[in-house]
Amino acid sequence: VDRRKLVSVINNEQTNKGGSVVTVPSDLSEMLAEGTKEAHDRAENCQFVKDFLRGHIPRELFKRGTAALYFVYLAMEEEIEKNKDHPQVAPIYFPAELHRCEALARDLEYFYGAEWQIQISLSACTKPYVDRIHNVGAQDPALLVAHAYTRYMGDLSGGQILKKVAQRALKLPSSGEGLNFYQFEGIHGHSGFKRLYRSRMNEIELDTDTKRKIVEESNRAFGFNMMVFTELEEIGKKIPEQAQEEAFGHGHAEIMQGEDINKCPYYVAKMATSGNPTYVCQFAKALLQHLPSQVVLAAWIALFAGFTAWYLR
Ligand code: HEM
Repeated sequence: VDRRKLVSVINNEQTNKGGSVVTVPSDLSEMLAEGTKEAHDRAENCQFVKDFLRGHIPRELFKRGTAALYFVYLAMEEEIEKNKDHPQVAPIYFPAELHRCEALARDLEYFYGAEWQIQISLSACTKPYVDRIHNVGAQDPALLVAHAYTRYMGDLSGGQILKKVAQRALKLPSSGEGLNFYQFEGIHGHSGFKRLYRSRMNEIELDTDTKRKIVEESNRAFGFNMMVFTELEEIGKKIPEQAQEEAFGHGHAEIMQGEDINKCPYYVAKMATSGNPTYVCQFAKALLQHLPSQVVLAAWIALFAGFTAWYLR
């Protein structure tokens, strides 16, 4: 028996590309922190989040973001509730401390009024996220741990910074109306709770393969969040147009309404690059829908080339 090899297996050591020995985490909480570092960096640095952090968050966008979160948490908490006795879900079941659905409903009532439920709709890029959560809840409940981790741990961390920024940018009352989502009434001391949550994740009985699948699912959840951010960013670009329309009495025009997941161009692009032929086709169609701007660009290039040829002759 190669003693060195044996010791390195016991200590979870691996040799990296540079030839040095590194310890690979085996606790789920560490595997998640390590395995989603890059995705976290990407999320933190995407345009929508950067703008938000700078205080560039129009009220309309914040409202739509809150609506998107409502649908995500509705799905997540419904599935967690259904699976609360599942041995791999029970240790992270903290409804009183974490669940956000009611807080989000109160925020939506504040922003949209008593009729909020008929004012909001599931956006095209939120739908694949919600569908995935239901899918995982029904087929593979252990993966719900990944979805819960990605959202709740984030809300208890960076979410607290976003709360302060939103309060200032949107001039929301100091009483906390509109910001119930960020206020965890049942948690006194976020760091202490995050420690408890990590230790509960580590208590779940899981083999290495399932732990890896959970890390993969968390990266997928980060990806879904990025899609929602990108969608909001695109809506943000169109807000001045909408404000103009409303001034001319053509309000209520939904900028991006979608029951069909294929309408989310980012989701379609992602599936197309994964080689799924249905989505390659959808992606081509989505590109064609943007043809007018490409024709204008091509015309400009042709004009410029013509002018250069004339000038250099
Ligand atoms: C506004 C941009 C963001 C900032 C400034 C931010 C900041 C932070 C900070 C400082 C931590 C470390 C907290 C600690 O160790 O106690 C953290 C952790 C975390 N954040 Fe973010 N974050 C942002 C966006 C996001 C987003 C968009 C997500 C996912 C949707 C997310 C998910 C997480 C998760 C899951 C953790 C826990 C990491 C771990 O300890 O395992 N964050 N964030």
